[in-house]
Amino acid sequence: MNKILDVISEEVQKAFEKKGYDPKYGKVGLSNRPDLCEYQCNGAMACAKVYKKAPFMISDEIAEELNSNTMFESVVSVKPGFLNIKLSGAFLNDYVTKMGEDSKYGVSEVEEDRTVMLDFGGPNVAKPLHVGHLRSAIIGESVKRILRFKGDKVIGDVHLGDWGLQMGLIITELKSRKPELVYFDDSYMGEYPTEAPFTIAELEEIYPTASAKSKEDVSYKEEALKATVEVQKGKPGYRALLNHILNVSVTDLKKNYENLGVSFDLWKGESDADPYIPDMVKKMRDEGFAYESDGALVVDVKEESDTKEIPPCMILKSDGAALYDTTDLATLIWRMNDYNPDEVIYVVDKRQELHFIQVFRCAKKTGIVPADKKLTFLGFGTMNGKDGKPFKTREGGVMRLEHLLTSINEEMAAKIADNNTMSKDEAEKTAKIVALAAIKYGDLSNQASKDYVFDIDRFTSFEGNTGPYILYTIVRIKSILAKYKESGKNIANCKLLAPKKDSEKELMLALTKYAPAIDSAYEELAPHKICAYIYELSNALNHFYHETKIMGEEDADRQASYVKLLDITRGVLEQAIDLLGFEAPERM
Ligand code: ARG
Repeated sequence: MNKILDVISEEVQKAFEKKGYDPKYGKVGLSNRPDLCEYQCNGAMACAKVYKKAPFMISDEIAEELNSNTMFESVVSVKPGFLNIKLSGAFLNDYVTKMGEDSKYGVSEVEEDRTVMLDFGGPNVAKPLHVGHLRSAIIGESVKRILRFKGDKVIGDVHLGDWGLQMGLIITELKSRKPELVYFDDSYMGEYPTEAPFTIAELEEIYPTASAKSKEDVSYKEEALKATVEVQKGKPGYRALLNHILNVSVTDLKKNYENLGVSFDLWKGESDADPYIPDMVKKMRDEGFAYESDGALVVDVKEESDTKEIPPCMILKSDGAALYDTTDLATLIWRMNDYNPDEVIYVVDKRQELHFIQVFRCAKKTGIVPADKKLTFLGFGTMNGKDGKPFKTREGGVMRLEHLLTSINEEMAAKIADNNTMSKDEAEKTAKIVALAAIKYGDLSNQASKDYVFDIDRFTSFEGNTGPYILYTIVRIKSILAKYKESGKNIANCKLLAPKKDSEKELMLALTKYAPAIDSAYEELAPHKICAYIYELSNALNHFYHETKIMGEEDADRQASYVKLLDITRGVLEQAIDLLGFEAPERM
């Protein structure tokens, strides 16, 4: 389906052409003065300069030409040369009816076949998920859904942090606690046990203990660094431990992400890049890109146009250990080999921007990634507490994601139990659905790159620009639709009529903005555009609802038209929240 602005522009352009002007001046935009008109065209002003006429003479001519056109209720020429446009109810009816017949409500897919690799989530193995990982998961999941909806092939990769010092720390701590384990016996030749020597709870306790110890005890830290190098070099006992750590962690992570409605196609990690590192390093040396600097191996990535210092990319540390740069570069090798994506998008904390500038430049410079491929950093801001500082627990520690979710679920459950008559079971399920919407919408409604304040009270409110408000709107529609059905009528037979009331027309106009909103969310990787849109649409719906007796309408055709309008609005809202990564309950 063509977007409504294109359809209107085409008509106005034809009028310009017919009157002897270049049609390009007939481009139409949304009105800056919604009190006066719905759309406007300012082209007569620029046109007047070229054709050496007064602008309003041109706008007068065009307005006259268009006034007999059934697309418009009115086209008014206003000095100095604006065209103020209102659509006819009949045209709008036709357009919205067609939207309602389309499974994507007028959103069209991209023409080009594209494969996108989406790197999001980025949890670190053996460390509990904390709220810092929440944003990557929420934004990434939404971007994944938006891209797929527009027709891209998307491969989501969780890219576990499983190749750094945390591995060495865990191994060192385990060794000091259970030195008798076979993993630490260098002469052991047999098979390693399939059962992990720890549970997830133990693992999550081991890591912080080890991390704290390493900060106080230099020799402990050295041991952990050595273990890190050894596991990276492939020491069999340590590799076996690494696998246990991975398995135990991943099982737990999957459960957590599932609760968030977030999923990945690939569960690869930094460690999967390891086999590609030796050849990569050799090639970088042979081709003269990499050189030693203070014992480390580096590649220069600064460019003449840089306004700030961009340090070299670090390929290997002086002890031969791989670094964050190394694993990200080598990861791009298998990504290109195995999936050949047109674009790789990284949804990562914006404080890592410099790292990605270095990696992207190095990947292009050394030919790991061909010049025509896109590498995109989608950096997000920090989630702050009400004090404006990074979100913490009441005790000042790092808030674990599970605990955050549980506390919001409880808050929501209390609210719902307060004002409803649901069974305990339904109330609990509903609370979970609404709580997730509250968190996700609270996050996604902000431009990703900005910091935002995580304000549970505001996010869980049923009023204002919140997830629960959107859900409430959907539930409100569903309940009217249910009543209509109960009265023995069939929604499938309902036909839309031209609008009679202002609030009805405004709702229809709001619906026509769906495709443009989705398109700009897609082009700018910006889920917040969808949030802004559904907030506007929900407001239009609620305004219409308050002004209209729907079940009390006596004219059956008019009532059917209202129902149809509600049903299309419900469909658009539900599709949009699915793109954001949450859903609506039946009641709330
Ligand atoms: N594990 C990293 C962290 O917690 C994020 C990984 C992001 N992705 C990447 N390819 N570097 O900071």
